[in-house]
Amino acid sequence: MVAASRNLDTLNEALRGVPGRVEARAVDAGDAADLARFFHAVGAFDHLVLTLSGGEGAGPFESLDLQALRRGFEAKSWPQLAAAQCSLPTLRAHGSITFITAISARIARPGTTGLAAINGALEAMVGGLARELAPRRVNAVSPGVVDTPWWDRMPADAKAAVFAEQRDTLPVGRVGRPDDVAHAIQYLMENGFTTGTVAACDGGLHLL
Ligand SMILES: NC(=O)c1ccc[n+]([C@@H]2O[C@H](COP(=O)([O-])OP(=O)(O)OC[C@H]3O[C@@H](n4cnc5c(N)ncnc54)[C@H](OP(=O)(O)O)[C@@H]3O)[C@@H](O)[C@H]2O)c1
Repeated sequence: MVAASRNLDTLNEALRGVPGRVEARAVDAGDAADLARFFHAVGAFDHLVLTLSGGEGAGPFESLDLQALRRGFEAKSWPQLAAAQCSLPTLRAHGSITFITAISARIARPGTTGLAAINGALEAMVGGLARELAPRRVNAVSPGVVDTPWWDRMPADAKAAVFAEQRDTLPVGRVGRPDDVAHAIQYLMENGFTTGTVAACDGGLHLL
């Protein structure tokens, strides 16, 4: 298994204690030449999981900074698509691509329309890619609120308020954990009869 991100130090820290042999590699998925070098170095492989993300693009539409929204697309939608495209020459025919999007794409929540657009762009491509790239399978996991470092961009009291609201309102009564999303990814990777699917992993947030 190969895990990759831009910063090898934080990647190695995240991989500490992960069982099995995982090779850490540095790559910037926003850089086409770097992506090409990365996939060439990895060689033929079976499953691509695209978890990368930016942090910009949220806020009320009336005052939304459109340049920030553009950066949000450039930090998530474009590099996920670029990595998927660049992987194709070495992604085996029985393999799969799993995008990680966000449930904002499917809930009409004020203040998240920009995030809906960033993630909806990816989700809109899943079905068509599943047909176009067959027999490779193409799916997405669409998470709700999951306790990861992504939320550390936010002031601590604002993050605590979001998590408390999730605990109070979600049918499952808790915030998501990285393992919840990992299970959903594993299902989509391993189930050879599932393609063109966007799987919500959100504790029921899409129902509210
Ligand atoms: N956490 C949530 O509540 C939540 C909710 C809905 C959806 N999601 C989605 O779930 C996915 C994982 O989220 P997360 O919470 O784990 O986010 P995160 O804590 O911000 O982690 C994102 C990872 O992507 C890597 N990355 C970012 N840009 C990259 C690039 N250009 N090339 C290579 N690696 C890059 C980062 O490492 P480097 O900085 O070292 O590159 C980091 O390891 C994301 O797509 C996110 O949008 C998360």
